[in-house]
Amino acid sequence: MAFELPTLPYAKDALAPAMSAETLEYHHGKHHNKYVNTLNDLITGTEYEGQSLEEIIKATAGKADKKGIFNNAAQHFNHSFFWTCMTPGGGGKPTGDLARKIDESFGDYDSFRKKFAAEAGTHFGSGWAWLVADGNALKVISTHDAEDPIHMGLKPIITCDVWEHAYYIDYRNERPKFIDAFLDKLVNWDFAARQL
Ligand code: FE2
Repeated sequence: MAFELPTLPYAKDALAPAMSAETLEYHHGKHHNKYVNTLNDLITGTEYEGQSLEEIIKATAGKADKKGIFNNAAQHFNHSFFWTCMTPGGGGKPTGDLARKIDESFGDYDSFRKKFAAEAGTHFGSGWAWLVADGNALKVISTHDAEDPIHMGLKPIITCDVWEHAYYIDYRNERPKFIDAFLDKLVNWDFAARQL
């Protein structure tokens, strides 16, 4: 069965003003949709048709001749994950086990926040900032372009898209303002806690 664009888990205007309906119309409806359609076109009639997204990502990662399939599969995975990392009225400090885990790994929430904001804000060019689980420890990393952690033995907990298409309509060139809004107003910590 062909891959499909997932429905957003909230209304298009539900994240405004931190993320506008116009951003979601373009980012979800056009950019993400294009990755899904291109992936379906690229895998039709190949050994990858019928495989799961994770199988395709793991099988094509690092293979120069499969770069197109990898990029579109990983972008489909990353964007699907990203939409679920946000919720209306989200952001701020997590609670419970996740909060304890963040304290253990980074010292305290403010240290984690500083690290994530710096990684996301200074990542050069297009890519993704991630909170990942590496065994028992949580880490902040960033990946370039479509790269994602699932073929690196890391478990994604939270991601923030730092491609310009994620924030240019709402924040123009000011990526750090978008990162602040993501952390303070959008992050879905309940979803993050379920990934542990
Ligand atoms: Fe994106």
